[in-house]
Amino acid sequence: MKLNYGIIGTGMMGCEHIRNLRKIPDINIVAIADPNERSRKWAKQNCADQFEPRLYEDYKELLMQKDIDIVVIASPNHTHTEIMRELFKTDKHVLLEKPMCTNLSDGMEVLEGSKKHKGIVWIGLEYRFMSPIQSLITHVNEIGNIKMLSIREHRFPFLEKVDNWNRFNKNTGGTLVEKCCHFFDLMNLMVPSKPIKIYASGGQDVNHLDEKYEGKTPDIIDNSFVLIDYEDGQRAMLDLCMFAEAGKYEQEIVLTGDCGKLETHIPGNELLLTNRKKHSYKTIEIKDDPRVKEVGFHHGASYIEHLELIECIKNKNHPLVDCQKGFDSIVIGLAAQRSIETGEPVHLNNFL
Ligand SMILES: NC(=O)c1ccc[n+]([C@@H]2O[C@H](COP(=O)([O-])OP(=O)(O)OC[C@H]3O[C@@H](n4cnc5c(N)ncnc54)[C@H](O)[C@@H]3O)[C@@H](O)[C@H]2O)c1
Repeated sequence: MKLNYGIIGTGMMGCEHIRNLRKIPDINIVAIADPNERSRKWAKQNCADQFEPRLYEDYKELLMQKDIDIVVIASPNHTHTEIMRELFKTDKHVLLEKPMCTNLSDGMEVLEGSKKHKGIVWIGLEYRFMSPIQSLITHVNEIGNIKMLSIREHRFPFLEKVDNWNRFNKNTGGTLVEKCCHFFDLMNLMVPSKPIKIYASGGQDVNHLDEKYEGKTPDIIDNSFVLIDYEDGQRAMLDLCMFAEAGKYEQEIVLTGDCGKLETHIPGNELLLTNRKKHSYKTIEIKDDPRVKEVGFHHGASYIEHLELIECIKNKNHPLVDCQKGFDSIVIGLAAQRSIETGEPVHLNNFL
């Protein structure tokens, strides 16, 4: 089965998708849509001699093309809902980049639309497919009942984007939605319970303060602690700092149960498994997924994401990362942003 792709938005992430798709057999990229001429040029360069896509300025024209089976949406966050509204008028499959939306009402609209949609709707939360995460999940039964999960991301500031859309909360949904939906998705994947209460402290203390766009200074936070309480008593914590580049690891993850602890890093090839009874730990080697043919910016996870999505399409399976998962990941981020604004914890039963 040959699949024809259309890519909407060909900046950094859209071009990353193109480079991944180049390494997968039986794929053709037949159309590209981006209002920015330089981005369309980047797309053509990345397609090089392999694909000859038709180029459109308007994504609506791309969505009208009958020969497209699947659309990848990699445009800025605040454009996702409008584009999904149009996509739902077709029966095409879609990979919608994270975060699925930037606010609750848009999230609910897209979630409802996905339930009626004929094609597969897949959200681009590819951290799930990174080898350290897969390895952690493989060994999760060895630490007893999960009690605590801590994720630390200490990294570089937000990169420059086309028109620097990522400098303002109104375009991104806020840093804890834009960036951290990945980590809230991992929490939802690993903690076997529902989040009920979110408390966050955060601020914009270092980054982008000397920048101006049409006279306005960026308003995105660059550091935060987020605490999440779960229905069955577990706790999770995100420690985010975006002025902490040049460390050995970008992300450090610790999952603790009542019998032991699992610890890993991204990038990384080691999982530490602590056993409380034996009062010892062992090191487990993390093997790279042998299917990966393009490592890219996400340690091969975007490549695996595409393979898994294609398998779902071929076998008519339910998507592994459906809209509900996309929605659940932004809800925690939005609640955390609200908690920072108000200084109060957010109870999800009141928030939703
Ligand atoms: N999954 C991940 O790990 C990951 C990583 C980076 C970015 N992303 C997501 O990918 C999306 C794009 O981010 P990016 O880093 O590539 O940004 P970018 O600024 O590099 O590229 C965005 C592109 O979309 C184009 N665009 C703007 N409005 C459009 C519209 N209405 N229709 C079509 N194209 C439009 C812009 O001209 C630009 O070329 C965002 O949602 C972002 O959150 C995901």
